[in-house]
Amino acid sequence: MAAERELAMPAEERKLATVIFADLVGSTEFAGDQDPERVRALLDRFYDSMVAEIERAGGTVEKFAGDAVMAAFGAPAAHEDDAERALHVALAMQRRLGELFGDRLALRIGVNTGDVVVGAPREGSSFVTGDTVNVCARLEQAASPGEVLVGERTVAAVRGAFEFGEPQTVEAKGKPGGVACRTLVRALSLMRPRGVGGLDPVFVGRERELETLRATFARVVEDARPGVTTVVGDAGVGKTRLLRELWQWLSDRSPQPLLRTGRCLSYGEGITYWPLGEVLREHFRILESEAPASLAARFADREGLAFSLGLRPSGDMHPLIVRGRIHGAWVDLLQTLVRERPAVLLIEDLHWAEPELCSLLQVVVERVDGPLLVLTTARPEIGDRHPEWTGEVVRLEALRPESTDELITAHLGSDCPGAIRADRGARRGEPVLRRGADRDARRPRRDRPGERQLEIR
Ligand SMILES: Nc1ncnc2c1ncn2[C@@H]1O[C@H](COP(=O)(O)OP(=O)(O)OP(=O)(O)O)[C@@H](O)[C@H]1O
Ligand SMILES: [Mg+2]
Repeated sequence: MAAERELAMPAEERKLATVIFADLVGSTEFAGDQDPERVRALLDRFYDSMVAEIERAGGTVEKFAGDAVMAAFGAPAAHEDDAERALHVALAMQRRLGELFGDRLALRIGVNTGDVVVGAPREGSSFVTGDTVNVCARLEQAASPGEVLVGERTVAAVRGAFEFGEPQTVEAKGKPGGVACRTLVRALSLMRPRGVGGLDPVFVGRERELETLRATFARVVEDARPGVTTVVGDAGVGKTRLLRELWQWLSDRSPQPLLRTGRCLSYGEGITYWPLGEVLREHFRILESEAPASLAARFADREGLAFSLGLRPSGDMHPLIVRGRIHGAWVDLLQTLVRERPAVLLIEDLHWAEPELCSLLQVVVERVDGPLLVLTTARPEIGDRHPEWTGEVVRLEALRPESTDELITAHLGSDCPGAIRADRGARRGEPVLRRGADRDARRPRRDRPGERQLEIR
């Protein structure tokens, strides 16, 4: 009976999700002048790697239709950074297509975030529908070959982590004003001055912690010796915000220290050195669209850096040799940089790092001789995940009630309802304000076995 009822009335649920549509352009022409079997095999390889990319990033492939693929992030399983994951996947798809087909084929991609209706899951998949999905399909159709068009809600959710083009509107059926969107340009590291939003205007409390970090930097410069400091605190407590403030202060120093950042991702394989890849992309101004062959040529004499950008070693180089080259190349690079001026390397979210990355950072700190400050941020689980990680710790507790009041007043004005202030009092220890898509962070993460689940308060 129960089973019958379930079949008759599939459980539907509303969720916030990010949807991605990708469609191949030019495949018919391409197929026309090639050996059909070879084309089939290449396309299969491409679709397989798209599916792998989506699944690795925690998304669900919803359907294939012709040359198009649709996937959802946030349904059925939600992660705090679904919108970011979707955009990283969009960029990865473009890169992969380039690797396999050069410029003979192109992808049009649309990405959109919003409420979706999730039908009853079938065989581990889900059935996602709603206006968000229709608009996403529209964005994909409006994108030029090679372009990723992103809806404004996604843009808002990833604020600061990606660079976008100017706002534009595309026409869509049933949308009299059109749909607002932007072209995705590339992934950014969080600390870089950015066009959208810029630095948060309000910063409260944390004077003591900020002072500790400034003093640490001053000491590293004075001693001309490397230092390591980790800012540890719960999700949303304000680690990144504190570091942004420090970044601002550092950028005003004279001479200005070299500031570079990278961020560990919460998912994926083969991303051990991802944050260092971000640092290199920032440092050498590498565009996402740069082809692997051109990168390989650019870093031909610095293989270790090329490997940390994700290029594969040629032939059958032993993993230990690869590792040694990466270590050597990073020590050389940072040694050269600190000869010119002090450098600060910030690696965000170290609790998600793989052990190899931690060892590399430690090797760098041991071997570089000069003013290099390695700063990291991490949630408290870093202690369980990387017990070997050493250095100084700046611990961030929840903001004090008077700072929280100041923050509430700054955001909502002094006539903010008493109930909100009272609620603040009742939830000591909880982060105060969260941006849009961050709301999913409070859901437990069931997708990563062994990971300490976030508390639901
Ligand atoms: N001291 C502060 N003053 C003003 N706003 C703050 C402060 N601390 C945090 N916030 C705001 O709270 C939100 C969460 O902060 P932040 O992103 O820095 O947390 P986090 O500790 O880095 O979290 P995660 O572990 O998820 O990376 C942000 O919108 C941030 O601007
Ligand atoms: Mg953070």
